[in-house]
Order: sequence, then structure tokens, then C-alpha cells
Amino acid sequence: MLASIDHVGIACSDIDRSIHRYQMLFGLQVTKYEDRPVSGVLEAMLRVAPSGSELTALSGASYVQLLQPTRSDTALAQFLRERGEGVQHIGYGVVDLQAALRQLRRHGVNLVPDMPQHGIFGNSIAFLEASSIGGVLTELVQLDGR
Ligand code: CO
Repeated sequence: MLASIDHVGIACSDIDRSIHRYQMLFGLQVTKYEDRPVSGVLEAMLRVAPSGSELTALSGASYVQLLQPTRSDTALAQFLRERGEGVQHIGYGVVDLQAALRQLRRHGVNLVPDMPQHGIFGNSIAFLEASSIGGVLTELVQLDGR
């Protein structure tokens, strides 16, 4: 079911400082940066890949996803208050998100929220409740040609 590790979601209190850290230490560049007021998050995707490489999505393009809450009433804000900065979720790439969700629902795994949403690249994503996955908030990402 899982085709790749698409991204690691990292909660941070100052996204610009965190971006600078990943640029300075690891040479990563920001692929996408967005203020998502509906979700209450500032989000940056930094691609992890050798420079100039031509990886396709299916062959394993992956990202560091930096997340700074912009509201206090979100799960991300709560995570930051209770646990501080750090890894908040893992995002796995899947070839067929709907088929994956059907299979997981048969095993009693619930989505939070209940329906898939659109990720920063416009593709479908879904979060699985952490309590079903050993305490790891797990996101599935519909892979596409990005
Ligand atoms: Co994510």
C-alpha cells in the first residue's frame, strides 16, 4: 500500500527560522510556501533530493514539511503547546488513496477529519488517527506527477 515516505511533518513555532535552519544546515530549498488560513497553518515544503535530479513522484521525491500554527484551536497548536517543536506526523505516498482508505477502514482505522482533503500541491491527502497507528499521526498522500 505504501509507495514512499512522501514527507515528514515538523511542528515549529517560527517557520522562517526553521526554513533558514534547513537551508543553512542541509541546503534544502523551499518548493512551496503557503498561508492556509482555513487550516490555521503556515506551511512550507522543502524538497529532499540531490540538486538537478529528476526523480519522479513514484520513484521517491520526498519533502520536509514545516508547519507553524496560526490559530490556537488546532491539533497542531495543541501539539506544539504540549510537546514543543518536533516531528508531528509522517506522510506516506500511496498510488490509490481511495483503495488504501477502504482497506484501512475495514481494519477499523478512522480518518481525522472524516474525509480526505487537499494538500498543498492540490492532491488528496488523508490523516489516520494516531491512536490506531501506535501513537503516530499518519498521513496518506495521493501520489501524482509532481
Ligand atoms: Co503532512
